[in-house]
Amino acid sequence: MAVEDDHVLISLTGITKEFPGVKALENVSLDVRKGEVLALVGENGAGKSTLIKILSGLYHKDNGEIRVRGKSVEIQDARHAQELGISTIFQEPTLAPHLTAVENVYLGREIYHSYFGGTVKILNEKEMYQETEKLYRNFFSTVEDLKRPVIELGALKNRVIEIAKALSVKASVVIMDEPTAALAEHEREVLFDFIRALKEQGVSVIYVSHHLKELFLLADRFHVMRDGKHIATVSADETDIDQLVSMMVGREISNFIAKETVPIGEESLRVIGLNQPGVLKNINFHIKKGEIVGIAGLAGSGRTETVRAVVGADRISSGAVEVDGKPFRIQSPRDAIRAGIGLLPENRKLHGALIEMSVSNNITLASIKRVLSKKFVLKKKAELDIASDYVQRLGIKTPTVHQKVRFLSGGNQQKVILAKWLFTKPKVLIFDEPTIGIDVGAKVEVYNLMAEFVRGGGGILMVSSDLPELMGLSDRIYVMHKGEFVHEFSRDEATEENIMYYASGGHQ
Ligand SMILES: Nc1ncnc2c1ncn2[C@@H]1O[C@H](COP(=O)(O)OP(=O)(O)OP(=O)(O)O)[C@@H](O)[C@H]1O
Ligand SMILES: [Mg+2]
Repeated sequence: MAVEDDHVLISLTGITKEFPGVKALENVSLDVRKGEVLALVGENGAGKSTLIKILSGLYHKDNGEIRVRGKSVEIQDARHAQELGISTIFQEPTLAPHLTAVENVYLGREIYHSYFGGTVKILNEKEMYQETEKLYRNFFSTVEDLKRPVIELGALKNRVIEIAKALSVKASVVIMDEPTAALAEHEREVLFDFIRALKEQGVSVIYVSHHLKELFLLADRFHVMRDGKHIATVSADETDIDQLVSMMVGREISNFIAKETVPIGEESLRVIGLNQPGVLKNINFHIKKGEIVGIAGLAGSGRTETVRAVVGADRISSGAVEVDGKPFRIQSPRDAIRAGIGLLPENRKLHGALIEMSVSNNITLASIKRVLSKKFVLKKKAELDIASDYVQRLGIKTPTVHQKVRFLSGGNQQKVILAKWLFTKPKVLIFDEPTIGIDVGAKVEVYNLMAEFVRGGGGILMVSSDLPELMGLSDRIYVMHKGEFVHEFSRDEATEENIMYYASGGHQ
């Protein structure tokens, strides 16, 4: 035991944590060794984030023991966790939106020049800026970003700033809860290089992700959780994706993605000559009833900007949108919904009011008319039946459909938002990264619900960075590069190689 202990940095024994109606953690034990990457895997709601929040001082455990470097500790709060050498990138965004990147990175631990024996302190802006810049430059070359409020920078850059923030702390363990959710290929690789460098310096990393393939590039060991319990810990070279999946879900599931053939009908959506100076250039495309159409491209190529422009979330300088052959003036997402176009956005952080509402209200709210009787009385039973159906199909983990969405795990919140849009049943549904944060079992059900939607004559436009998913589901794929649609592939022509060729500008 004593010999082993030298290698163990943090050890948790018999941790339990209960919330009203939910046993989030039941007798969970875990060791983190020095300089290892420990992957924490499990379905949505398995207890991964709860465990991490306990280690980071955000939640207090009900029972169990935490040892750091062999010493038993009660982690009081976030500052205490940092003092113990634990630095965390959380699943939910934590940046202060109106502060700059530099201010965010050093929030609460600003660096000062000290004068007159420490009696006078002046903020050392230069050093803070330089340190932040050094980290940021690994990902992006546009360092002007660092002086702007982070709210102006978009999801990807915000994520990178969160990462820079965690890495700027001298930590002995860095915890990352779904760090790559908003990252593109290139940023992922940079992050992975960082993780490998941390390992070499003897820093341990606890890494939470639903992206099992990606985890095999990094992890030394896998810690599998299910329903708040520790199922097994296995070394990466003694396991594979199939084994992990069956331990995570406790049943067999197929990870085969393929769109079934459905009759293709009339044109449902047509987008003509969309322009947004410096962002989008002359975008033209269409979707027919029964079709799933994909948009591929690297981060920053304009995929999200395209779908936002279509639903009027961003201003365009010119362009037109037709639904079922009729022109629509779309100036806001509200207009888009009226015209029959729904967008499930990439950034799915729910705003305050919705997060305080129940699961069932959230699912049915956007289509409230469908659960109202002729006399405009809410059909309670209908609402509950519909919500229960989605909860069951998507495996939404919640004690009841009356639970506030705030108390659901990250992935289960995503599922609620997805259910809401599927239930809206518009003519065209646009999904921006539909399965980010969604566990392996539920992904299959999301694909089934998408299939059901197009079978009923709907059309789907889908942005996804997951190429196997995009290729498995799409009838046609448009590839974007620098704000333009540069190529269109039919289902049979699309391969990862030729999509990447156009996405990276190889044709120019
Ligand atoms: N503050 C809270 N109040 C009530 N229940 C909670 C709270 N936080 C978490 N839970 C519940 O605890 C369980 C575990 O949630 P947790 O967030 O740890 O899951 P997770 O493994 O991180 O899932 P995901 O992959 O979706 O992020 C879930 O059933 C969740 O609803
Ligand atoms: Mg989580």
